Amino acid sequence: MLPKRVDTILQTVDQLRPMPSNVTRLLRELENPGVTAGVISDHIGLDQALAALIMQMANSALLGYGRTCTSINDAVVRLGFKRIKSIVMASAATGSMNGSLRGYRLGAGQLWNHSLAVAVSAEWVAQVVRYPNPEEAYVVGLLHDMGKLLLDQYVLSDYTKIVDYMHRYQISLWQVEEKLIGIDHATVGGLMAERWQFPMTMIDGIRYHHNPSGARNNPSLAAVVNMANAFATRHNMGIPDLHVKSIHPHSIQILRVDPDKLDLYQKHVDQMLEASS
Ligand SMILES: [Fe+2]
Ligand SMILES: [Fe+2]
Repeated sequence: MLPKRVDTILQTVDQLRPMPSNVTRLLRELENPGVTAGVISDHIGLDQALAALIMQMANSALLGYGRTCTSINDAVVRLGFKRIKSIVMASAATGSMNGSLRGYRLGAGQLWNHSLAVAVSAEWVAQVVRYPNPEEAYVVGLLHDMGKLLLDQYVLSDYTKIVDYMHRYQISLWQVEEKLIGIDHATVGGLMAERWQFPMTMIDGIRYHHNPSGARNNPSLAAVVNMANAFATRHNMGIPDLHVKSIHPHSIQILRVDPDKLDLYQKHVDQMLEASS
């Protein structure tokens, strides 16, 4: 029974559309050292949904901006090419992150808001622990839970059992997914990232965001996102996960964080996120 379901899920991942060619072209342009903001804006302008998202991000209080950007060109200049690249990747990968997830009990926009909060928190944690690439932490923060998009229907059909297991065995949601569905949302997200040929470190960052020491490539990234996820989850949205706010002890070791400072970090992230809401 179990393996068959996992097979179906793996097939679904295999059948995901590849990144559209306009997205890969745009990502390539962003790597081009001589490219101008004008050229990038023109590319973005061809894709209405992406243009809307870029405008929304450039005027987002969460990112500390005022609502003053009125053109795509302004938005591109304000956000910078690195951030544009993260947003392009995230929007292509998770076109439907704004919808609701009935299985996970997440209303419209809740997964996206959570992902954005984790992204902002991950970028900050990366800076604090001197992780060399905070932008990478940001984008993995945006994408870390994308496997939920695919697992939602299975969680929906097993909902009562899932909640019952969590309480009976006192384990986290992702562990229950593994037990009952045969695969968890982090692993599914990692497979999606693999399907789209994301860099290895990002694949592992997503795949191991709940158990960072499993990552063979760069466990620090998974640890940063694991910590950021715990910091950014102020309210228990969706399925009441018992351990939603707990940082994996390995993250603290991997990042060599002084445990006495965790409360302070939590407060800082709270303030950052509060200022934006
Ligand atoms: Fe997760
Ligand atoms: Fe999360």
